[in-house]
Parts: sequence; structure tokens; C-alpha cells
Amino acid sequence: MYFITFEGPEGSGKTTQIRLLLEWLRQQGRPVLHTREPGGTAIGDHIRSILLHPDHTEMTPETEILLFSAARAQIVRQVIRPHLAAGEIVVCDRFYDSTLAYQGYGRGLPLEDLRRITTFATGGLTPDLTFYLDLEARAGLRRKAQTPAEWNRMEALALDFHQRVAAGYRALIAAEPARWHVLDASQSPEVIQAEVRGRVGRLVGWLVG
Ligand code: TYD
Repeated sequence: MYFITFEGPEGSGKTTQIRLLLEWLRQQGRPVLHTREPGGTAIGDHIRSILLHPDHTEMTPETEILLFSAARAQIVRQVIRPHLAAGEIVVCDRFYDSTLAYQGYGRGLPLEDLRRITTFATGGLTPDLTFYLDLEARAGLRRKAQTPAEWNRMEALALDFHQRVAAGYRALIAAEPARWHVLDASQSPEVIQAEVRGRVGRLVGWLVG
């Protein structure tokens, strides 16, 4: 019924915010599904391990985008669309905006090509609402580096890559301000979550204003 996505740089606290939002939605008795990209299906999880494996340094940007898109094509049809059709709220950790920001602005692949591939992969599915956890790239990487076990091939890229990604997100937000809600990720998790719940409450019609 409602498709909500979270975007943001590494270490911006997406996982915590999604967990708290899901807790709240379930307390309200709303059927809700949580997924993440890349992954979320058996096929997608295999693709994820190929994509993020730190040894796969030879992967070309073209391969990278096609693999992310293959995982997305699968999760949209196998999981997301059926749950939306059943009236559920689907909350996804990253969606195609990550491709535009990371592969488009970060890697420098042509945005028109990425949009075409992405639309093919999603069948045109667009989020109703996308949260952006806004955090300076350097601060996010510093947070992530504190848990090196989770360090992946994308995070190992240079700071200037992550700064291009952040600038890319800002361009995406400016182009479609009604779909995006920007959160200041330097605030406490509780303060951020209150804003998230307020916005989702308005979306689903529980709160007015
Ligand atoms: P993950 O461990 O899920 O990171 P995070 O907790 O930050 O979401 O790894 C996903 C990585 O893949 C992350 O660095 C962003 C990147 N990514 C892309 O480059 N393109 C995409 O289309 C998607 C979905 C993710």
C-alpha cells in the first residue's frame, strides 16, 4: 500500500531508524515488511555477496550496475509488489536512488543509461516517501570504520567517491523535493525517529498536518 525507502551515506544510522520505525508500525497493528538492497531474496543475497565482496576489486562499473539491478528486479517482483498489493507498508533499506547516487554520481556512469536500466528493473515502481539521513561523508565513514567486520567493497572507496555520492543525493532531492524527507543524522536517534514517525503518520493518514 505504501512504499517507504531509506537512503543515506555509510554510517548514517539508517538501520537504527528503520528498526525503530518497524517497531512503531507493528505496535499500531499495521502489517509491515522490511527489506534491504542489495538482497532480500535468496537470489538477491547471492548477488549481494558477489557485489560487496572486498576481493572483487576487478569488477567493472557496468557489471556493478547490472548486478544491483538484477537483485532489484527480483525483489520487486518476488517480494515488494505482492506485499504492497496485499495492503502492507513496505520499508526498504536503499532502492534505486542508491544506484543513481553511487553508480551515477559516484562512479560517473551516464544517468540516462542508469535511469533506463533502473526503470526496466523496477517495472516503474517508485517509493511514496524516501527518507535521507544527511551526514557529512567523512563523519559517516568514521562511524562505519569502528565496525570493520562490516566494511565492504563500496565503503573501501576513497573519500572523494563518497563526497560525490553525497552531492548526487542532494541533486536527486532537489529534483523531486515532494518525495524526499531530509533528516539531520547528527541528531540523537530519538529525535530523528520522532520526525520519521510524524512524517509516516501523515503519509498513512494517522496524523494530520
Ligand atoms: P550495506 O552493507 O547494505 O551498506 P549500508 O548499511 O550503508 O546500506 O551495503 C550496501 C552498499 O552498496 C552501500 O555501500 C551502498 C551500495 N549500493 C550501491 O552502490 N548501489 C545500489 O544500487 C545499492 C542498492 C547499494
